[in-house]
Amino acid sequence: MRLPWELLILQSFMLCLADDSTLHGPIFIQEPSPVMFPLDSEEKKVKLNCEVKGNPKPHIRWKLNGTDVDIGMDFRYSVVEGSLLINNPNKTQDAGTYQCTATNSFGTIVSREAKLQFAYLDNFKTRTRSTVSVRRGQGMVLLCGPPPHSGELSYAWIFNEYPSYQDNRRFVSQETGNLYIAKVEKSDVGNYTCVVTNTVTNHKVLGPPTPLILRNDGEFSK
Ligand SMILES: *[C@@H]1O[C@H](CO)[C@@H](O)[C@H](O)[C@H]1NC(C)=O
Ligand SMILES: *[C@@H]1O[C@H](CO)[C@@H](O)[C@H](O)[C@H]1NC(C)=O
Ligand SMILES: *[C@@H]1O[C@H](CO)[C@@H](O)[C@H](O)[C@H]1NC(C)=O
Repeated sequence: MRLPWELLILQSFMLCLADDSTLHGPIFIQEPSPVMFPLDSEEKKVKLNCEVKGNPKPHIRWKLNGTDVDIGMDFRYSVVEGSLLINNPNKTQDAGTYQCTATNSFGTIVSREAKLQFAYLDNFKTRTRSTVSVRRGQGMVLLCGPPPHSGELSYAWIFNEYPSYQDNRRFVSQETGNLYIAKVEKSDVGNYTCVVTNTVTNHKVLGPPTPLILRNDGEFSK
């Protein structure tokens, strides 16, 4: 009599054997995932995964934005065990939505869509920002206005050449980059610079400084 675990092993072993030799349609082992490629990356290669099994061995094709990728047409392309490799990826030519399809005599399967995007962060266009004048005790917001980019950004501000700390009066929105100051004090007078970092490329750019001054009229001219 066999022990149950021996039976189990034997069964799965036979399943494996059967799987390899039985004729069947294509099945995905791995489908492509979204890729965010840093434009200034050292590694000049993108891989979009597609791994398929099937018997007979499935034929793999790739689509970019719904159009067949002609692997032979561009020397930058190669397909290695189903996955698409792109050498020297180029934002203009290669950004878009990829899908792989696998076909054998039993049929065709189509993978999920995977976006290839290029992460970048341009420099600020403007050099100067006009002075903001605030009454003491007022709240205020300084706009960051990040330059064109792709990829997630993080924000910080520099106050007179020093990193601006956040406390219960100062807040930097990680949504917009804007700096909020509640109840402006004399010590807040100075130059404010927004620092934008692309978290994918780690590229950092500085905005133009915005000078902040106190307006005294309100308090004394009444
Ligand atoms: C990317 O492709 C475009 C269009 O073919 C071309 O004008 C541009 O020079 C390429 N960029 C690089 C970095 O090769
Ligand atoms: C694919 O479609 C996207 C979205 O419409 C577009 O931005 C991109 O340039 C297209 N890619 C190519 C290579 O045409
Ligand atoms: C703010 O910047 C301007 C121009 O660079 C400079 O003249 C001024 O002294 C700076 N103000 C402070 C408080 O650092």
